[in-house]
Amino acid sequence: MNTPSRILSKALQGKIMSVEQAASLISSGVNVGMSGFTGSGYPKAVPAALAKRIEQANSAGEKFRIGVWTGASTAPELDGALAKVDGVEMRLPYQSDPICRKRINAGEMEYLDIHLSHVAQFVWFGFLGKLDIAVVEVAGILEDGRLIPSSSIGNNKTWLEQADKVILEVNSWQDNRLEGMHDVYYGTNLPPYRQPIPLVSPQDRIGDPYLHCDPSKVIAIVETHSPDRNSAFSPPDENSRLIAGHILEFLEHEVKRGRLPKDLLPLQSGVGNIANAVMAGLNHGPFENLTAYTEVLQDGMLEMIRSGKLISASATAFSLSDTALEELYTNFELYREKIVLRPQEISNHPEVIRRLGVIAMNGMIEADIYGNVNSTHVMGSAIMNGIGGSGDFARNAYISIFMTPSQAKNGQISCIVPMVSHVDHTEHDVQVLVTEQGLADLRGLSPSQRAKVIIENCAHPDFRPALQDYLKRSLDHSFGKHTPHLLNEALSWHQRYLTEGQM
Ligand code: COA
Repeated sequence: MNTPSRILSKALQGKIMSVEQAASLISSGVNVGMSGFTGSGYPKAVPAALAKRIEQANSAGEKFRIGVWTGASTAPELDGALAKVDGVEMRLPYQSDPICRKRINAGEMEYLDIHLSHVAQFVWFGFLGKLDIAVVEVAGILEDGRLIPSSSIGNNKTWLEQADKVILEVNSWQDNRLEGMHDVYYGTNLPPYRQPIPLVSPQDRIGDPYLHCDPSKVIAIVETHSPDRNSAFSPPDENSRLIAGHILEFLEHEVKRGRLPKDLLPLQSGVGNIANAVMAGLNHGPFENLTAYTEVLQDGMLEMIRSGKLISASATAFSLSDTALEELYTNFELYREKIVLRPQEISNHPEVIRRLGVIAMNGMIEADIYGNVNSTHVMGSAIMNGIGGSGDFARNAYISIFMTPSQAKNGQISCIVPMVSHVDHTEHDVQVLVTEQGLADLRGLSPSQRAKVIIENCAHPDFRPALQDYLKRSLDHSFGKHTPHLLNEALSWHQRYLTEGQM
């Protein structure tokens, strides 16, 4: 028999089996910790085979559902496949899949949307119940059983440590030059024995390039050769360019005022097109020798490394388009020495984010005139994606910036509202709001001072008069004048602009 090149451990070679055999080892009712963070490093074969099993069970009239825990969102082959067959009892901690979203919003799937930095420790503490099985994609297995992580790390360290049983997918599509790029910190203890995390700059290496796993827990190994699911970013539109411009101007102003060094502080950039466009703006901006301490590494940051603007980047996952991925692997040596991938409890760790003084830039659904931000819910009740890492960064950042176009749904909805319909980031965690209209620097302002600046600088002119009118009447008639509100009216604002079918 030929020795499979990616599985060097003799002991583990005996565990190789077909994907159907591996999927048959997962029974209904278990909690499964899957690898995956955005379209990177998720298991490509077992979830699909499991979905098939679930479908068969469903047609035989049996209910077959599992708990699905991951790093963050994954891809249609995992989230979509399992949600389609109604196989998910509880999903956590983040998703962005349309089928999942539909089931969650229809009340057919439980969803626990939690800060990404909290997941690992919630599992260590036992808050989330028992983790039965881990299904983790790796790029290879060393002779001594250590695992070469794949294109994301997410919660894999925790899944491998905490699960009773482990199924590994060894994906030969993943470039074997990934070996050595990761930094898996094994020093985290539970309170009261917890020690400071010895990371003082984004490029520091404090751990091991490999994941550890007790070989006796490995019940199956499946070999795959399947690509990550890399979605393309849309080219920056006019709104994104304007938002990026306002942020750049703000950062330059902060440097002039001596509140930021000229090479700024480590950047965190959220998910999506606008975040990516802001990076493109920075790439053409005046700042040099930048660093990033972030969660996902999107195309914009890769371009900044290529251009020399960004000298190092720490993340937990790649989240690249196909074109950017090709660039990564063509010039791998350039990127390899500048990028570190870490477990998400470290990439998003409040202690480290505060120590480094990260500049956090995240997207939002809406903000209210006092600076509270809703990142997750449409009409206060329908989930979009989840809070992801935005709260980890916003609460602990040096400066926390939230951005959105000022209007949604072709101008029918204002993204600046009297009162957000759901709060993810309170007024205390939001220092700067940005739309294509302008930027509101909320630092040092009281609620009613903030309201004036937010309406004036961020709201779309079509909605400004209505917001100004609301503020004026609130100042006149509110029960309290500290954060003036007309409570009955505040939330009916949403009803006025969102007609059925627009979600
Ligand atoms: N009311 C109703 N719908 C709204 C809305 C509003 N005020 N604002 C945006 N939307 C809708 C958009 O119309 C769009 O819907 P569609 O997919 O049907 O077209 C959807 O929300 C996404 O908006 P978009 O403008 O494309 O923004 P985005 O891709 O930048 O995403 C968030 C914005 C908030 C959804 C996204 O940033 C997110 O999920 N954030 C939370 C997690 C996070 O911040 N992670 C990063 C931490 S590292």
